[in-house]
Parts: sequence; C-alpha cells; structure tokens
Amino acid sequence: MRTLALSAGIALTAATLALTSTATAESHVDPAIAGAIKARQAHMQLYAHNIGVLGGMAQGRIDYDADLASAAASNLAALSQLNQMTYWPAGSDNASVDGTKALPAIWDDLPGVMARGAALVEASAAMEAAAGGGLESLQGAMQALGGACGACHQNYRQSDN
Ligand code: HEC
Repeated sequence: MRTLALSAGIALTAATLALTSTATAESHVDPAIAGAIKARQAHMQLYAHNIGVLGGMAQGRIDYDADLASAAASNLAALSQLNQMTYWPAGSDNASVDGTKALPAIWDDLPGVMARGAALVEASAAMEAAAGGGLESLQGAMQALGGACGACHQNYRQSDN
C-alpha cells in the first residue's frame, strides 16, 4: 500500500514536472519569432485603424471628409505594399507557438497567401483612387476592400469561434 501510494506520488510529480516544462517551453518563444508575430499583428492593426475610418464614413458613423478618406486610403495602399517577408518566419504558426492566430496553411500555400496579398494591393489602390471623390465613390470601393481582408483571414487565420 505504502509503495503504491509512494509510486503514485512520484508519478504525479513526474506528470506535474512534464506539464511545467511544456508551459515553460511555450512561454520561451524564440525572440526573433515573437518579434515577427508582434510586427505582423501591429501591421494588421494599422490596416484595421485605417479601414475603420473608411468603413465609418461608408456606414455614416463618421461624417464624410474627402481629405481624411484619402489619407486613410493612401495609408492602406502604402501598407499593403510593404514587403512582409520578415513577418512570417517558419515556426511562427499557431500550431508551433502561442500568441498567434496564423494557421500552418500559410506555410503550406505561400503562393495562395501572396495572391491574397496582391488582391489587397489592388483593392487598396482602387480605394485610394475612389476615396476622395465623394461618399458614393468611397462606398463603391468598400466591399472589394473589406473582401480582400476577409478572403485572407478565412483561409489563413484561426477563426474566433
Ligand atoms: C495575406 C493575408 C492577409 C490579409 C490580406 C489581411 N490579413 Fe489580417 N491577418 C492575417 C493573419 C494570418 C492574421 C493572424 C496574425 C497572427 O496572429 O500572427 C491576421 C490578423 C489580423 C488582425 C488581428 C491582429 C492582432 O493584433 O492580433 C487584424 C485586426 C487584421 N488582421 C486586420 C486586417 C485588415 C483590416 C485587413 C485588410 C485591410 C487584413 N487584415 C488583411 C492575414 C491577412
């Protein structure tokens, strides 16, 4: 009985240690990988901020302002053209590390991801041309722009549900 209790105790300790070391390994993400994840999420936040201005105007929550709309659209166009190569190192997917929603599918299908990126460049350029030309003109370019973000998220970002 005593031996059994003792060995059960040891087994439990070993299991606890194993759990602890897994948790430690995950919280010690390679700084280069952690930095890349932070950078790409920050880039996405800049997208979100700028598209938020355009979407707010399109939906009537923000008064239309041609200069502001053009500024947000130009920012998006510029951001979409930045070279993102260093944002997506191998091993920074959500199956390998915590703190990211980037699906492993990104690394299995780089041409597909690049195509989604190119679609955003195109939709941003169309918005840049349209945004300053009146509310209806902005609204006309909104769906394609939002769709370009969504098309990539649908395939390559872990959904919230
Ligand atoms: C080429 C693919 C792609 C395109 C295009 C794209 N995204 Fe993302 N987005 C991602 C991926 C992948 C993630 C998950 C990144 C992570 O968690 O490491 C993400 C994450 C985000 C996040 C969460 C960032 C955070 O702080 O965790 C926001 C917000 C976002 N995207 C907004 C946008 C908007 C707005 C657009 C369009 C203007 C856009 N994205 C276009 C792939 C894309």
